[in-house]
Amino acid sequence: MTARRQSNDDLLVSSNFIQAVRESGYLSISTALAELIDNSLQAQATEVAIRIARPTTADRPKIEIEVEDNGVGMDTQGLAACLRFGGSSRFGERASFGRFGMGLPAASLSQTRRVAVTAWQGGRARSVSLDVDAIAAGAAVDLEPRSAEPGSSPSGCRVVWSDCDRIEYRRLAWLERSLHRSLGRMYRRFLNERLTLTINGSLVDPVDPTLLTTDVEGHTAQLAFEPLHFELATSAGETAYVTVRFSALPVSHWHHLDNVTKRRVGIVGQGGVSVLRAGREIASGWHLMGTKRKENYDDWWRCEIEFDPALDEHFGITINKQGIRPSQPLREALEPELESIARLLNARVRQAFEEVKFQAAAAASCRIAAAADRDLPVIHSRGKAQGPLTYRLGSGPLPIEIMFQSQLRHRTLDLTINVDHPAFAALYRPLQAMEEAAAADLRTALELLLLSYARAAVQSGQDGDEMLRAWSATYGRMLQRS
Ligand SMILES: Nc1ncnc2c1ncn2[C@@H]1O[C@H](COP(=O)(O)OP(=O)(O)O)[C@@H](O)[C@H]1O
Ligand SMILES: [Mg+2]
Repeated sequence: MTARRQSNDDLLVSSNFIQAVRESGYLSISTALAELIDNSLQAQATEVAIRIARPTTADRPKIEIEVEDNGVGMDTQGLAACLRFGGSSRFGERASFGRFGMGLPAASLSQTRRVAVTAWQGGRARSVSLDVDAIAAGAAVDLEPRSAEPGSSPSGCRVVWSDCDRIEYRRLAWLERSLHRSLGRMYRRFLNERLTLTINGSLVDPVDPTLLTTDVEGHTAQLAFEPLHFELATSAGETAYVTVRFSALPVSHWHHLDNVTKRRVGIVGQGGVSVLRAGREIASGWHLMGTKRKENYDDWWRCEIEFDPALDEHFGITINKQGIRPSQPLREALEPELESIARLLNARVRQAFEEVKFQAAAAASCRIAAAADRDLPVIHSRGKAQGPLTYRLGSGPLPIEIMFQSQLRHRTLDLTINVDHPAFAALYRPLQAMEEAAAADLRTALELLLLSYARAAVQSGQDGDEMLRAWSATYGRMLQRS
């Protein structure tokens, strides 16, 4: 291909267009870099190396960013097209990330005044480049591939942004740290599978906002439900599915962590909904939750919404593939169910925090019961361990027929009071309204009453269930009359 003079046939006034397109709306360096990584993945790369440097030149230090992959590379024709706007080997496709033929040039120019692309296959490397200043000054656009230095892999591609003038980080270390987080999150699926991504030689680890695989003190978040699937019509008249997963964080095991740890792990600061297109995150925040607003409790559950590019119209995907703007049919299909699940999970978290408070307050009674246990008739249980019992007292929703439930396990008598039985409100609500010291004594007396009953039931060797049911029903009926 030869360099073309600007003629009246051209759709674009290149000298102006190349400056205007710099404002195509990439929100950050990470979303711009994501276009390059998307391309590498589509070229079957398994390794992507990002190198960031600030070479000091005489006038001013410019940040230089290089992204090199070991994908299939490009032939001369592909290379000649790749920096053209609309130049795509997969224009209009919906199989994966690329579809517009804009990502490489638009994302690059949003960050740099000069971009060069080198690709190699079978030992031959060629390169093309764009220079904003030269074209703005009226130079002809020259995208003729020229021979260049290949990379170390058998085939691959290297993109160099050599004059980044829009990066706001004063220190490269901060930029690197921020990219580790954002790219680790965006590409978590691929980093868990076949992709090795490095930034200046250091491995990018997957960052999973659902925390399903994040082990802290021996616990991870858990799937709250089986994944949900919503069927929608594509613009091509076929059907495709949106998959939604909810995870719940273990409040009882993680609530005590300090704020620095909570932030580092992602319990705080990573909350809300993560939207994945073709497995890559393109939006995060509070999406498709109907009229429900986000509260602090909602940090303790997560939602992941996944869709295929066939549903781009429903998600309102624009050229720079950042964020979503859900269509009305999409909202109608998803929001009612997602909103009610959000409210349910919010209520569960609230309950879990109530339970944490309840257990902390009940610890005093449990200590007293354990101290008294030495003076009580020995209870024999299966297993090696013998000696005095310890006690644990909690609260939670149970079937309405029983006031509480107890079981002896590993020498601990574990009693759960049913928050749904009328006895709970009748006994604990007045306690909360009372002055502190008096309430504490009464609370201890009440809890010892229950713990002693449970112990007596074990000691008597009978199944106390029938008695407890009858007692619960009677007490419940009487309370309703009072
Ligand atoms: N890392 C790469 N390896 C191989 N080919 C690439 C790479 N990056 C870009 N290309 C080629 O350049 C074309 C243009 O890329 P892009 O502007 O991102 O558009 P799109 O991804 O929508 O096709 C792609 O269609 C592809 O053929
Ligand atoms: Mg692309």
